[in-house]
Amino acid sequence: MSSLADSVVNQMTQLFADQGAKAYLGESVTMAEHMLQGAWLAEQQGESDEIIIAALLHDIGHFAGGRGVFSLQDTEDRCHEATGSALVARHLPPVVVDSIREHVAAKRYLCATQPEYAACLSKASQHSLRLQGGPMSAEEVEDFARHPHLDAILKVRHFDDAGKEPGQWTPGFDHFAPRLRRLVEAHHAAVTNTLEKRG
Ligand SMILES: [Fe+2]
Repeated sequence: MSSLADSVVNQMTQLFADQGAKAYLGESVTMAEHMLQGAWLAEQQGESDEIIIAALLHDIGHFAGGRGVFSLQDTEDRCHEATGSALVARHLPPVVVDSIREHVAAKRYLCATQPEYAACLSKASQHSLRLQGGPMSAEEVEDFARHPHLDAILKVRHFDDAGKEPGQWTPGFDHFAPRLRRLVEAHHAAVTNTLEKRG
């Protein structure tokens, strides 16, 4: 087991344990419950390690950004998607990092392209949407639709929206830790391999 993968898993485990109990978006689940629900749904639906781990960590920026957790009283965006993706960018494959970075953009994209999606958003999510720029313009939609990881990004967004059920049982973070470790190890091995070939 690589010590680097260990340190990533330990850091995430610690963030979930320390920060995860905070309330999430004014809803009836905590931050940790929300992300564990998304990851658990993804796992139950047979999704890949990449999708499961992206769902597990998509809001990690709320824990680690030092700017506090979103509230309904917020008048400006806290950009947690940028904080979260930057936190894991060196350790996870691009598809995971992009799914975390773009999960807010995905909401703006879906609101612009699927009117029924916007109607189903939670009150808190509708509030944050306004702070995040509202539905995408036609130009933004056209651009976003060309994203190479669009399918993964939209899947993770789906698990984000679905993971807000009060009282829903899920396994704890430890259940997902082996997948996270495996993904970090595989990513570092791939990067090292590429560098050696270039070297
Ligand atoms: Fe979320």
